[in-house]
Amino acid sequence: MKILPSILSADFAHFAADLSDVLGHCSHSLVGGDVIHVDVMDGHLVPNISFGPPVISKIRRAFPDIFFDVHLMIDQPVRYAADHRNAGADRITFHVEAPEVAGDIVGACRAISETGAKVGITLKPGTPLDAIFPALPYVDLVLIMSVEPGFGGQKFMANQLEKCRRITPMLREDQILEIDGGINPDTAKLACDTGVDWFVVGSAIFDAPDRRDAATQFATSILHP
Ligand code: DX5
Ligand code: ZN
Repeated sequence: MKILPSILSADFAHFAADLSDVLGHCSHSLVGGDVIHVDVMDGHLVPNISFGPPVISKIRRAFPDIFFDVHLMIDQPVRYAADHRNAGADRITFHVEAPEVAGDIVGACRAISETGAKVGITLKPGTPLDAIFPALPYVDLVLIMSVEPGFGGQKFMANQLEKCRRITPMLREDQILEIDGGINPDTAKLACDTGVDWFVVGSAIFDAPDRRDAATQFATSILHP
């Protein structure tokens, strides 16, 4: 059980110090500190543009021992998988809606896995859960989006919890269930009750008036529900 700071919410003008501060609070509260969530957006699959491999490789140099959980919100996750792996991605999560993977999500899992990265699959809130079923044997993580991907700071969509409830019994012991979007200590508790293991957190930790207090509240929600 851990929270993953989403670097999209970090202060990019003071990036390393800001991220180190948040990771320190997570580690102190025993809710992570060893993993970050990295949102890559191409302006096609989602209506926003963030950053890509050149930026990730710089961050990797500054944080050599952190696990990089990379969420590719891009049309061509297979084409760019090796670039992200070489930049430092430990896991690459792709969207089932990406046009490049249409009709062959198992092939996409294999291609991403061949780069040496672990593989995750995810889906937008409006996509039915069964769209990811063929890929389940080949992924080490399933990510349920609880906002429309593209922006931090949105309201949690409680109707996505049903997907968590349905997928939990379908996953193996070694597979991770992750949730992303609108997660705060209250929504984390709801997700925790459905079987979620990893919680992506952007604004609720980076923008908290007291980050230490926020990390403590997350610990209460997910470690002692
Ligand atoms: C949304 C991103 C999220 C986002 C989460 O497209 O995938 O990772 O940064 O931010 P919050 O926690 O503020 O919803
Ligand atoms: Zn994300």
